[in-house]
Amino acid sequence: MKVTNTVNSHLSLGEWLHENFMLFKMRMKSFSAMDESIKSVFERVESLDAITAQYSRKRIRDCQILEIGFGANPHLMIALQSMGCDVIGIDLDQPVLHFRTKYFYSIYKKNGVGRLVKSFVRSVLFDKYERNALARLLESKGFGMKIDESAFKVGDAAEFVFEKESFDLIFSNLVFMHIPMEKMRQLVRKMTEWLRPDGIALIRIGIHTGISGGLLTEWYPHLLNENIQRRSDPWEHLRKKRFEADYYQNKLRLKEYRQVLSGYFDILEEINETPDLGSKFLTPEIRAELSDYSESELISFRYTFILGKPSESPMLS
Ligand SMILES: C[S@@+](CC[C@H](N)C(=O)[O-])C[C@H]1O[C@@H](n2cnc3c(N)ncnc32)[C@H](O)[C@@H]1O
Repeated sequence: MKVTNTVNSHLSLGEWLHENFMLFKMRMKSFSAMDESIKSVFERVESLDAITAQYSRKRIRDCQILEIGFGANPHLMIALQSMGCDVIGIDLDQPVLHFRTKYFYSIYKKNGVGRLVKSFVRSVLFDKYERNALARLLESKGFGMKIDESAFKVGDAAEFVFEKESFDLIFSNLVFMHIPMEKMRQLVRKMTEWLRPDGIALIRIGIHTGISGGLLTEWYPHLLNENIQRRSDPWEHLRKKRFEADYYQNKLRLKEYRQVLSGYFDILEEINETPDLGSKFLTPEIRAELSDYSESELISFRYTFILGKPSESPMLS
């Protein structure tokens, strides 16, 4: 099966424009707090470092690292490279690493004119400023910004070939929700092969059943406490399903992730980062309507699995 980031083809032009305009507005808003948002990249580096130190007794600078799905703004990979870490990443889509025609041409060839326009606008309006903010922050920590283009691989991670046991750390942030179940199974099996025996994997997901899980922009976590006009209802994606986000989603439940991941890995820890997200919207009526779900899966969203190589042979698929 070929996987792409192609958006929902049944999304009407109006819905597509609405979602993308909301995203644009959010981006403009975070523009003024750029340095703050870039700082969070370093918090993530520190968190990766603490977790590798705890579980594999290695500092991140001594690890060979793979990032699955680095995204259109691969700040974390750039920060890691600049700090001297040995990191490779793979994403379905070509990132715009510099403002050069070759990147835009490659996006146009693979994803068509819609994605080309989106990437071009983002690049002109935001990328340069974000990169400058990242460079300033790196400099304040004594690092010069480095971008090794050859480390940014483009392709489907589940189909990619990496050497066996070549990584100490494999991580992925908010990617697995966009991978179909069977593809994910294939990828997770490959990850056990790519990891060294004492290596660990960190998979961070957004849970579909959470209030933000439909990925409709107006229900994004940071907007939940804002008094904004919304056109959809809380947990719209599990109830009336009138609107769709502009991304492919596998809609898996937490137990399904557990089942796939534990088929190949030992789950060393599960971190529920947002155990009480949107509970104020969970009225008794909505709770009754969503009685097939546990309360915890309705009010959770960001969730991290820390995985180790299995002590026994993984199941064969
Ligand atoms: C929501 S973005 C997250 C990007 C980034 N990790 C971040 O935190 O900003 C999901 C990314 O996963 C990538 N992706 C989805 N399926 C993939 C696959 N099978 N192989 C590689 N990358 C994939 C998409 O291209 C997209 O860039």
